[in-house]
Amino acid sequence: MGMIGRLRIAGLCTSAAIALAGQPLAAKDAAPATTILHVDPAKPGAHIQRDIFGQFAEHLGHGIYGGVWVGKDSAIPNVRGIRSDVVAALRAIHVPNVRWPGGCFADEYHWRWGVGPQDKRRQTLNASWGNVIEPNSFGTDEYFDFLQQIGAEAYVSVNVGAGSPEEAADWLEYMTADKPTSLAKERAANGHPAPYKVKYLGLGNENWGCGGAMSPDHYVEEMKRFAHYTRNLNTAQEQGPDKMKRLAVGWDSNKSDYTDAVMKAWKDKVWSWDVDGVSLHNYVVGGWPPHLKSLGFEEGDYAIALEEAYRMDGMIAKQSAIMDQYDPAKKVALAVDEWGAWLAPNPGTNPQFLQQQNSLRDAILASVNLNIFMRHADRVRMSNIAQMINVLQSMILTDGPKMVLTPTYHVYRMYVPFQDATLVPVTFDAGSYSFGGKTMPRIDAVAARDAAGKLWLAVTNVDPNQPAEVVVDLPGAGARRASGQVLTAPRVDAVNSFAAPETVVPKPISATTRGGKLVVMLPAKAVAVLAVE
Ligand code: AHR
Repeated sequence: MGMIGRLRIAGLCTSAAIALAGQPLAAKDAAPATTILHVDPAKPGAHIQRDIFGQFAEHLGHGIYGGVWVGKDSAIPNVRGIRSDVVAALRAIHVPNVRWPGGCFADEYHWRWGVGPQDKRRQTLNASWGNVIEPNSFGTDEYFDFLQQIGAEAYVSVNVGAGSPEEAADWLEYMTADKPTSLAKERAANGHPAPYKVKYLGLGNENWGCGGAMSPDHYVEEMKRFAHYTRNLNTAQEQGPDKMKRLAVGWDSNKSDYTDAVMKAWKDKVWSWDVDGVSLHNYVVGGWPPHLKSLGFEEGDYAIALEEAYRMDGMIAKQSAIMDQYDPAKKVALAVDEWGAWLAPNPGTNPQFLQQQNSLRDAILASVNLNIFMRHADRVRMSNIAQMINVLQSMILTDGPKMVLTPTYHVYRMYVPFQDATLVPVTFDAGSYSFGGKTMPRIDAVAARDAAGKLWLAVTNVDPNQPAEVVVDLPGAGARRASGQVLTAPRVDAVNSFAAPETVVPKPISATTRGGKLVVMLPAKAVAVLAVE
């Protein structure tokens, strides 16, 4: 069971919250409630893999075209067709990996359409996402160029649904062969003689749904063939410590058949195949079809989304319990490689493009989920928010030459110190926030020590009405100083727009001391990250 399950929740429904029904979501003046965080640096926990802060970029709407790729001849500043403003912004959040090319798109993507001279690329239809023309201008070599520009690793999903092991093996040969095979020579002719490093390989995507509607047993048989034949031919990578890791599909839409079937097969596997992880996809939706507004919503929608976000903890606990049966040593990772808020599409946009605005609510939701992943770091070693640019809960929105960073982006930037840090236990009475029949922990927090030994604290006040006084209880001589950044805004539906890009941006925050303890005054609806000295 994760930390959330152990938190003591008072279960009260505040009169302040009731009084706010139907009112605009501005903070009310309310006295802060005190939360004591008991931090225990003497008992270090799991390593927080930086891949927990991964991204997902699918050929969907303007996720790639317009968001990443503008083409070499564009007036938008670019390097080899990849827009430079986006690259600079992504570099600043230290993106560890980018999952590509989908999503559902991956299970009907044929890599051959996206390599070679641009004027020879095949024009196809993106049947997964609106039947729009897919120009295939952004293919394998452009993807690796993009990764190199932002400093991220590859997470490539191969086509299990509509493809074959032969096609996937050829793609691996094209990407990774270090000997002069025909496909390695083709890659060299396309400008890249050296093999690429494929750190992660996804074996399909949601094959219980858009990836072929396969039964768990059918998928497992396919997955074994793909796992065996997708050989990484980059000898330096395969003989080093960073061998390619294969990820199978798990979590069958609120059932658990896939995870159980994959793990059962893994336990009895023969020498010819292996997987290093299984996936979990879970979106905050508020009921299908997605209808929660991303702009101009009230407190009821806020509470629905946040309460649903907290449910991630139970899902991970459930999947971990299944995995523990077959893998008590936790060799196989749980990869939450699609998650985020899936809201109503922006009015006037193609609903198949999944374009939505991104508010302070999304930022708070992101912090809650990232905290859950970190608390489960012994099993969760990867997550990929959906999706990086212009799609669902994105980091960045673009419109032609314009670009704006979302509140979610700022959480990722504030959380950089947690990449590759070591979890430090923190216990606290979270209290509760309730509205409209939804009750959830009011305060959330994680602590971790980075490689240089510095202690970091992330604290979220989910309550949109009541500030919080957070007292940090450290054993021993105690901490003397803590400072960092806080992200908040007058309303939870505050967004950054092209016209007003700095409505929700981090501001400095410092702790005071009282009786040898640090005290952080956290505004209502806020995410803070502080370095403790
Ligand atoms: O992220 C959008 C879609 O959601 C992905 O393509 C699919 O895997 C999931 O259902």
